[in-house]
Amino acid sequence: MKRIVIVGAGGRLGAALAREYAGEFDVVGFNHAQLDLGAPDQMRAKLGELEFDALINTAAQTNVDRCETHQEEAFTINGAAPGVLAEICGRKKARFIHVSTDYVFDGEKREPYTEEDEARPISVYGESKREGERRALEANEHSLIVRVSWVFGPDRPSFIDWALNQAREREEVSAIADKWATPTYTLDLAGMLKTFLPGGRSNAEGNGLGAGRLHGACGILHLVNSGECSWQEYAQSALDCCRAEGVPMKARIIGASSLAEMKSFIAKRPGYSVLSSAKYERLTGRTPRPWREVVADFVRDYARERLL
Ligand SMILES: NC(=O)c1ccc[n+]([C@@H]2O[C@H](COP(=O)([O-])OP(=O)(O)OC[C@H]3O[C@@H](n4cnc5c(N)ncnc54)[C@H](OP(=O)(O)O)[C@@H]3O)[C@@H](O)[C@H]2O)c1
Repeated sequence: MKRIVIVGAGGRLGAALAREYAGEFDVVGFNHAQLDLGAPDQMRAKLGELEFDALINTAAQTNVDRCETHQEEAFTINGAAPGVLAEICGRKKARFIHVSTDYVFDGEKREPYTEEDEARPISVYGESKREGERRALEANEHSLIVRVSWVFGPDRPSFIDWALNQAREREEVSAIADKWATPTYTLDLAGMLKTFLPGGRSNAEGNGLGAGRLHGACGILHLVNSGECSWQEYAQSALDCCRAEGVPMKARIIGASSLAEMKSFIAKRPGYSVLSSAKYERLTGRTPRPWREVVADFVRDYARERLL
């Protein structure tokens, strides 16, 4: 059984990966208290003495507004640490997969961003994550950088949980209608990512490439569910699912607000940051599930019970 290290195992994505991979892999998870990305010596000591076949880094300073006011922290955790992890993995000949973000783009495009599009971040968070991508690839050319967007799942609340809580309590709820991306379910990400792990029972043998090639795929890859929507459409879809599941919700309609109205936001956010899945589809011959389908799964399997 291959051993997979998950860094950030206490987070939304890391916790989901650790749970989903247990049994199929020998999973060793590190949460923030167990491994600090701000302490390179600790990373080298703890990971240096451990045998493993792959390491997935899901840990990051994900508070986009905090990054604006804590730039050094952002660049240490999101920028420098991925380089250290990549170097450690390179020395051990272990696979390194690093999770990055749609916020590396400026949001000016109006069709899905591909891996070839130039990253032009407009926030410290985006810049620090872009720096992390660059450092990981510089330290270890075999690194795989996986960009994701609007991550949601059962392990830690996100926008969808906030919107549903609001809609249960109040008749009038609004969400931003002029910002677009793709909600991506942690359980689907676990399945898609597995294809790129050594020894995983691959859910895709590859489009004529064979699983071996995919386990070694490197560079940048966008991994998201299919389609695109605004925060308003995302929230409306989740609300409709709740009503269909019989959850009593005070709101029926999610009203529209604009990004410009969000005076509490410190960092600039890209207006359009939809990521294209075309490369993933070419490599695996598979299409990620549509975002509406995974939102419905999440509501049925997790949110419904919490809201009732
Ligand atoms: N959430 C999204 O919508 C989204 C969108 C695009 C990309 N991403 C990327 O996807 C990845 C996973 O995000 P997520 O949604 O799972 O975020 P998350 O729930 O915030 O998880 C991040 C984890 O990193 C840990 N962490 C923070 N600082 C650390 C440090 N110095 N050392 C070690 N661990 C530290 C956090 O621990 P504590 O909470 O205990 O500090 C947390 O468990 C990240 O790389 C993020 O940039 C997320």
